[in-house]
Amino acid sequence: MTENMTENVAGPAKAAPGRSIVVDGLRKSYERNAGDAAAYAIDGVSFDVPEGQFVTLLGPSGCGKTTTLRCVAGLERAQGGRIEMAGQIVFDASQGRHVRPEDRPIAMVPQSYGIWPHMTVLDNAAFPMRHGRNRRRGEEVRRRAMEMLEQVGLQSMADRWATQLSGGQQQRLAFARALLGDPEVLLLDEPLSNLDAKLRAKLRQELRSFQEKFEIAALYVTHDQSEALALSDTVIVMNQGRIEQIDGPERLYDHPRSSFVADFIGSANLLPVEHTSPGPDGSVLAKTGVGAVLCGRSPAAPDDRSGNGGFVCVRPENVRVRAADEGTPQAGDDEILGRVETSEFLGDRLELVVRAGDVAITAFARADLGSRPGDDVSLAFDPASTSYLAS
Ligand SMILES: Nc1ncnc2c1ncn2[C@@H]1O[C@H](COP(=O)(O)OP(=O)(O)O)[C@@H](O)[C@H]1O
Ligand SMILES: [Mg+2]
Repeated sequence: MTENMTENVAGPAKAAPGRSIVVDGLRKSYERNAGDAAAYAIDGVSFDVPEGQFVTLLGPSGCGKTTTLRCVAGLERAQGGRIEMAGQIVFDASQGRHVRPEDRPIAMVPQSYGIWPHMTVLDNAAFPMRHGRNRRRGEEVRRRAMEMLEQVGLQSMADRWATQLSGGQQQRLAFARALLGDPEVLLLDEPLSNLDAKLRAKLRQELRSFQEKFEIAALYVTHDQSEALALSDTVIVMNQGRIEQIDGPERLYDHPRSSFVADFIGSANLLPVEHTSPGPDGSVLAKTGVGAVLCGRSPAAPDDRSGNGGFVCVRPENVRVRAADEGTPQAGDDEILGRVETSEFLGDRLELVVRAGDVAITAFARADLGSRPGDDVSLAFDPASTSYLAS
């Protein structure tokens, strides 16, 4: 294949140390003639996978996660951008460089695990050493395969047919087989989505503990936000072929940069903003339909903090609720008056939906608040946990 350039013809192409994958400006359209007007499945996607880290592509169906992963694997060829792996350029659209999937230092764990039913567990595990990038011979193949099966707790099943394994054991075998190809990075596309909820939670913990034990970098795809938050060092939130935000799980939850991220990760109240003006200490005073709200968190630069549009974002657990008869709010208290629409007792808390003007605000209140639908309540947002999001 002429497009497969094995040696380093593009000159010095060392990635910065500590990064297993560098993706820069990836752009891919499935249309035959990807011109200016083409619809891009991904458009300007850039990110790193640092050594030993678990990085997740998260977003709704159709946002371009699989396309991104397949470009990294070399199964799709992008129209623009560059990919480096382990210090080598494996893809560069401007130079027509495209290293074949089998020559990239990756292993893909398919959704269905891709276990061969006509082979034993041992032969499945040994496959990459017999047919992969770094081939090995004779007794070493068996020895290494057995060592790895022992690491994942399958040594006693080495001579069974692969079809005799349970779903969880098949995942372990797929993982062991992937590692035996000596990859730099594991690529996983929704590997748990076919399983029931209980097994999914168990296997995701196991996946993470294997990934840490073998200190291997992973690029993981899911549309499930709780899976992404539970597993990842870094989450890349995608929307319509573009990256919205790259951050650790906690930062993503506490400091979303856009209303899309705030809404997709956990639940958020998003109040449309009519006008903003600068508040004290770098905060933003946002005028909404239910009054002015002081926002102590704003991802935008200070210069951008006056203007129109955007949203106030506050999580339900950060809304303080008082029964209105506990004392009339003082002027300047920044309290919002509303009426309870629904009230659900959830044991440890009360989940309220409060109607204030045109908006419905969800709030978690003390379980003993005792508010019923129709009751008047006052709501207050702590500026320190309230964000102004410009988009
Ligand atoms: N083989 C293909 N041919 C044409 N369009 C495709 C193909 N694969 C994906 N797409 C389109 O590209 C976009 C991104 O898809 P995909 O990467 O599969 O998203 P995700 O994995 O996030 O659900 C979608 O609009 C999808 O319809
Ligand atoms: Mg997909």
